[in-house]
Amino acid sequence: MQVQVQAVAPAEVEADTLAVPLTEEGLSETANAIDEALDGLLQQLLEEGELQSDLGQAHVVHVRGRLPAKRIAVAGLGKRDRIDADALRTAGAAVAQESSQFTSSLAWALDSSLPLPVEGQARALVEGTLLGAYEPARWKHDDHKPKLKSLVLCGDTSVTEGVERTTRIAEWVNRARDLVNSPPNEATPERLAARAGEIASDVEHVEADALGPEQIKEQGMGAFAAVAQGSDVEPRLVVLRYEPPEPSNRDFVLGLVGKAITFDTGGISLKPSLHMQDMKGDMAGGAAVIEATGAIADLGLPIRVLAVVAACENMPGGDAYRPGDILTAANGKTIEVTNTDAEGRLVLADALWYARENGATHVLDLATLTGAMELALGDLYAGIFSNDDEWREQIVAAGEASGDHAWPWPMHPRYRRYVDSAFADIKNSSDLRQGSPVLAAEFLKEFAGEGPWAHADIAGPAFLERPRGDYLSQRGGTGYGVRLIVELASRLAA
Ligand code: BES
Ligand code: MN
Ligand code: ZN
Repeated sequence: MQVQVQAVAPAEVEADTLAVPLTEEGLSETANAIDEALDGLLQQLLEEGELQSDLGQAHVVHVRGRLPAKRIAVAGLGKRDRIDADALRTAGAAVAQESSQFTSSLAWALDSSLPLPVEGQARALVEGTLLGAYEPARWKHDDHKPKLKSLVLCGDTSVTEGVERTTRIAEWVNRARDLVNSPPNEATPERLAARAGEIASDVEHVEADALGPEQIKEQGMGAFAAVAQGSDVEPRLVVLRYEPPEPSNRDFVLGLVGKAITFDTGGISLKPSLHMQDMKGDMAGGAAVIEATGAIADLGLPIRVLAVVAACENMPGGDAYRPGDILTAANGKTIEVTNTDAEGRLVLADALWYARENGATHVLDLATLTGAMELALGDLYAGIFSNDDEWREQIVAAGEASGDHAWPWPMHPRYRRYVDSAFADIKNSSDLRQGSPVLAAEFLKEFAGEGPWAHADIAGPAFLERPRGDYLSQRGGTGYGVRLIVELASRLAA
């Protein structure tokens, strides 16, 4: 989508649809200016109850030649004093969804009378529009595909830089969604490696590499190799390096580690079949890491990045790993497998080791790791665990600022007993139905090496089964993590 800021009055902008804000308190300043040209039509419709100010409502009104814009979309923002970036993203998405069947050019009236500064409004509207207009039905033959091609923000052009940056980031988020939504027969480990290769050839200072099954074994990654062995589809350890010419700190390497189980059947500890198709989304952490690395490089942020994505299928094939197997991870620790469906922590164990081994000083892993995390926080927040309070706070703050909501979770050495094994150094799951996200983090900590490490369990917000009532209303991948990582990297590079 083409996005522009134009110093044009909303009453003069040419567009298929022009969006103006409406709060619970009434028409906003820009909406009132438009309403003058419409002889009070909007005010009349409002009084008659045809326009709703509830957040997420968008109502399209035809103007029949009284304005250069063909139609007005009146976008509800809810209560004035509750307007924040999420509200504007939601309004942006509502307008995009409501109008995209018949709108190719959309304009939005920025409004200096709203409590959020115009620059923040502009960025949130762009993000909401681009994420809200995302089309997950790429595999459907359909004549009703959205037409939306361009977005113009009417207002001060001083917001242009922020708008361009936000546009790029939102496009990278949608690329991550594309990967997550791709069916597991297309989004294979090999395809993820190819995607990393595409990024390396499209974006400067990025290099991509991929280790195949033999190299994974040669590196001693016994945990990752075990998960992969039940499938005929080959695993890949996808590696992306971004080395900017002038990093702000040469001694700092951001290590991004992603879980990319391209399909999680549970293996021999087979999952129930109902909704199993959603386990194509079990590579969302890896997708976010790959596309966020592309975004960081595309923005030219002066920070060194090493991204490591463990990509494989978890299948119950003839050579599948079994409950009872004892594996040796790359860091030398032995792991008793008690549940083959707790595969994410196994592949991450070796990917974390690889990231450290190759120079990552500060590590963040993203993984759709536990169903219990979704039970706890629903589809909105990821849980953040860390061995370092400051690192965890930086990640939570970046998440909250970016729209990828994140919340701190505890770690404590006394959780370790949940994964004490009678036979090996550690076991991969507990049969107690307690603290599952926490003990998974406790497990990962033992493979995270020296230095700050954090783990984001994104099982809830990474993949939506149903609309969330905000700007992410499409089923499937949300691209969770891309915005968080880019915000984190921006702050670290500053
Ligand atoms: N990929 C799943 C976690 C998951 C479940 C993510 C639902 C998103 C939605 C993970 O591999 C898994 O199966 N975890 C198990 C761990 C258990 C066996 C210890 C779980 O959470 O049930
Ligand atoms: Mn699993
Ligand atoms: Zn999984």
